[in-house]
Amino acid sequence: MAVVAWLEAAGIDATLPSPDRVYDAYLGGSHNTAVDRSFVDQVEQILPPIKPLARNNRSFLRRAVKEAAAAGITQFLDIGSGAPTVGNVHEIALRANPEAHVVYVDSNTIAVQSSLIKLQEQNVTDRVTMIQEDLRNPDGILDHPQTRALIDFDKPVCLQMVALLHFIGDEDNPADLIAHYRSRLAPGSLLVMSHIALDDASQEQKDQVAAFLDAYKNTTTRLYTRTKAELERLFEGWELQEPGIVHLQDWRPDNPVDREPSAYHLAWCGVGRKA
Ligand SMILES: C[S@@+](CC[C@H](N)C(=O)[O-])C[C@H]1O[C@@H](n2cnc3c(N)ncnc32)[C@H](O)[C@@H]1O
Repeated sequence: MAVVAWLEAAGIDATLPSPDRVYDAYLGGSHNTAVDRSFVDQVEQILPPIKPLARNNRSFLRRAVKEAAAAGITQFLDIGSGAPTVGNVHEIALRANPEAHVVYVDSNTIAVQSSLIKLQEQNVTDRVTMIQEDLRNPDGILDHPQTRALIDFDKPVCLQMVALLHFIGDEDNPADLIAHYRSRLAPGSLLVMSHIALDDASQEQKDQVAAFLDAYKNTTTRLYTRTKAELERLFEGWELQEPGIVHLQDWRPDNPVDREPSAYHLAWCGVGRKA
């Protein structure tokens, strides 16, 4: 079914661009509408490296999942996972270990519905599911029956908040939220995060990002940047894994083509481990 028909059937207002579909359009996916694509055209005028930035983010996510699987983690809780798009977490995790379990979480109805269809088509719903919940409701996510059915919290979990926290303002106390999640996870669990940032950006990039943040005021959500020092505080209590908090392309790059210089300096990322 076309995405617009989906939205109408679900009673969702398709007249505003929505961040999950917009991100999917940045990556060249098919879960987006004309409204989202026209917003993406507008963003590309404002922030020309937006698509490389999204691709760099997705590559970081893929590498972090691969490394977590290689380290023996078999359970993945991916919050703010978005619409099914290019290179999904469960595809990487199941390739590394067919016994892996993945719970996706997103607050956006269409992201959840379209992901569930994809999981059914792929016949993986015995080990992969998706729930509609908000990051700001940790217990709602961690105690959700579908989460409990697939994740054993006595064992390490790879918790992902990739390109998510820039949708959360300081009034929602992201550090307290992350600490709450950490308190519920077993030792050996990982936290994977990335975040739009400007510390090392040129003045031209800073101006572009300021206009980009303004543009998001016309979507269903706001967007915030954070400094490296702020991201370090979000990782408090987690042992940062090598190479620490770095730009997306610098986190264990496996391929020189991952380095897309136009978007360099526009986001931080890192992986922390609960001791
Ligand atoms: C930019 S996409 C990132 C997708 C994926 N994590 C990645 O990095 O490739 C951000 C997603 O976060 C979701 N999101 C935003 N605020 C959220 C919240 N408070 N709780 C759960 N999901 C949220 C959006 O709906 C969107 O699908």
